[in-house]
Amino acid sequence: MACRRAAKGGVFLIYLDNAATSFPKPPSVVKAVTGVMEKIGGNPGRAGHRGALAGGRIMNRCRELAAEYGGLSSPDRVIFCLNCTDALNMAIRGTLRTGDEVLVSHAEHNAVMRPLMGYHDAGKITVRILPPDSRGILSPETVAAAVTPRTALMILCHASNVTGQIQPAREIARVCHAAGVPLLLDAAQTAGTEDIASVHADMVAMPGHKGLLGPMGTGLLLLGDQVLPRPLREGGTGSASESLRQPSMLPDRLESGTANLPGIAGLAQGLKFMLAHRAAIAEYEHILSERLRRGLEQIPGVTLYTGAAGLPHVGVVSFNVQGMDSGEAADRLNRAGIAVRGGLHCAPSIHAWLGTAGAVRASLGPFNTEHDVDALVEAVENMSQT
Ligand code: ALA
Repeated sequence: MACRRAAKGGVFLIYLDNAATSFPKPPSVVKAVTGVMEKIGGNPGRAGHRGALAGGRIMNRCRELAAEYGGLSSPDRVIFCLNCTDALNMAIRGTLRTGDEVLVSHAEHNAVMRPLMGYHDAGKITVRILPPDSRGILSPETVAAAVTPRTALMILCHASNVTGQIQPAREIARVCHAAGVPLLLDAAQTAGTEDIASVHADMVAMPGHKGLLGPMGTGLLLLGDQVLPRPLREGGTGSASESLRQPSMLPDRLESGTANLPGIAGLAQGLKFMLAHRAAIAEYEHILSERLRRGLEQIPGVTLYTGAAGLPHVGVVSFNVQGMDSGEAADRLNRAGIAVRGGLHCAPSIHAWLGTAGAVRASLGPFNTEHDVDALVEAVENMSQT
């Protein structure tokens, strides 16, 4: 289903910005969000009346689906967050202590780098960026060799939001565990298409609104059995209300304040849809991104930044058109009705590694079609000739 026919009053475009947020959403997601708004009066865990209990059941179902996807031992180890940045902040700030050292890949998003560099600049922690090989792959051997007695956390961007390249997360998790270092996986671009459970990361941060097909304002932190981050926010949980202190049990330890129930209801439906179709979605997006890559590489003056051919990647294809700033190129495409993202994508580290000052990024979703891909290739071809 191409996004050509926008909803009445909506924006008429070909949507190729799924790495920022997926669009459109499955109709079951929209129905679940509006269903809560229209039919459920009650704050889950805050009362025993029917509305509150119905809301609680929706949250439990969403936790169960997320735990199934993440291969967790209990749904209680699924933490609802605002988005992936929030989940990463919870994991980073809840784990690190003064004097710690953190290892990261060259491909980290600012959602990881900014919290880390704040601590680093204050002299609290040391951040070490590990070099990839010439293909952009961080080898497990590099990680193993970098660990010191002060290493308290390894953070890995599972797939770059600029090149789409997937890192060998399973192998890196193995070396981290052998060294006694927890692995935090940033699954911002892989959740919904890749097998997350088999990585065996200690913590996984993911947005609810990208590959999981839920609404914006949702995210998840999945916790393995060996980790228990300190809370980022404290307050009412609806549990242990006689105590003035934050409960230690999960998920309440990390979830204070009223939850985004409409968002979580939508996310539950997005997870359900994704779990039923994940392999097909991954294969379909792979086919579309290969078609896009092949189409763009035929155009003189176009440079692609997609990671080495033949290596695993998600449906993200970045490129530049000779003589044109990426922001200008993206604007021209956007004006032509093709939604893409230009600039640095909040990921200056990987742009520095690529040697670019920005790029145009097209990112595919389950509802794109070959027509969408061909329309972009044609528009870039026209643009490169002017
Ligand atoms: N991090 C998201 C992106 O890459 C928003 O566009």
